[in-house]
Amino acid sequence: MSGGGADATSAHLPVMFAEVMDGLAVKQDGIYLDGTFGRGGHARGILQRLGPKGRLLVMDKDPEAIAVATRMAAADVRLQWRRGSFAGLAEWAGADGLDGVLLDLGVSSPQLDVAERGFSFAKDGPLDMRMDPDSGESAADWLQRASEKEIADVLWRYGEERQSRRIARAIVAQREEAPLRRTAQLASLIASVLPRGASKTHPATRSFQAIRIHINRELADLESGLDAALARLKPEGRLAVISFHSLEDRIVKQFMARHAKAPPANRRMPVQVAFTPVLALIGGAQKAGEAELAANPRARSAVLRVASKLPVAGPGVAA
Ligand SMILES: C[S@@+](CC[C@H](N)C(=O)[O-])C[C@H]1O[C@@H](n2cnc3c(N)ncnc32)[C@H](O)[C@@H]1O
Repeated sequence: MSGGGADATSAHLPVMFAEVMDGLAVKQDGIYLDGTFGRGGHARGILQRLGPKGRLLVMDKDPEAIAVATRMAAADVRLQWRRGSFAGLAEWAGADGLDGVLLDLGVSSPQLDVAERGFSFAKDGPLDMRMDPDSGESAADWLQRASEKEIADVLWRYGEERQSRRIARAIVAQREEAPLRRTAQLASLIASVLPRGASKTHPATRSFQAIRIHINRELADLESGLDAALARLKPEGRLAVISFHSLEDRIVKQFMARHAKAPPANRRMPVQVAFTPVLALIGGAQKAGEAELAANPRARSAVLRVASKLPVAGPGVAA
């Protein structure tokens, strides 16, 4: 897979495509926002279901994703794009009164496949990991300046890495000799300090995930993006979110539950506070089916959650 060029439109298989289209229930004249355009797999599906008056706004932090969106927009006036984080979607003036928002979180296959992006422990490249390589700090720069405790905390919090302190200690010892600049260097350093278990996954898997989440502020962006999406959705507008690990899914699940269900009464708060739901959950957590899993292993960890915005002060009737 090339993935690096703007022509790599087929290098990312959209995950849970049919379920996402069902969840968004695209209206012909609706306005939709895809906050994670990637290579436009889901965006193409939305465009196919929109009529001539419908609109699709797409965002991505990644310049290569935006290059694909720019070309698609040149051929389809219904499509508009903006480079940036979906955390700031509410600042896009056109993104008012949305009929649906899709967030397909994490990294795309082209980002993982191109060694130069530095996301992959399996391919040697510069230790970068930024979705937007023009802003923020690369993984190499962060690992060079962060304290041992900060590194250990990130590995523990975002990677649930039980050997976080050991790995952080090894990173700090290594950088005193020479800076860590390559993904293969970091991957083999982690492999050298972790006891070999029976697990088939590479010992650096959890640490790479943790550093990537930290460098791209993924969980903070998700929290802001969910609030912004809810604020911009019209009544009956749909919110569909695909997450790829438990930290993301917990945020999505709790966000939807907080806006859909009254908090349970408890002993410390025996008087039930008035609660008006603003979201109705559409089904529960959905997983990819067998056929998709066979064709696309990336779908294995995907969890889709969908909710619909309720009319203001309306009763919490699930659709
Ligand atoms: C899993 S891929 C999306 C694939 C897309 N649905 C498709 O079918 O081609 C995730 C994409 O979201 C982008 N992304 C992740 N977090 C983002 C954020 N906070 N703001 C904007 N884009 C983000 C990544 O750069 C990547 O291109």
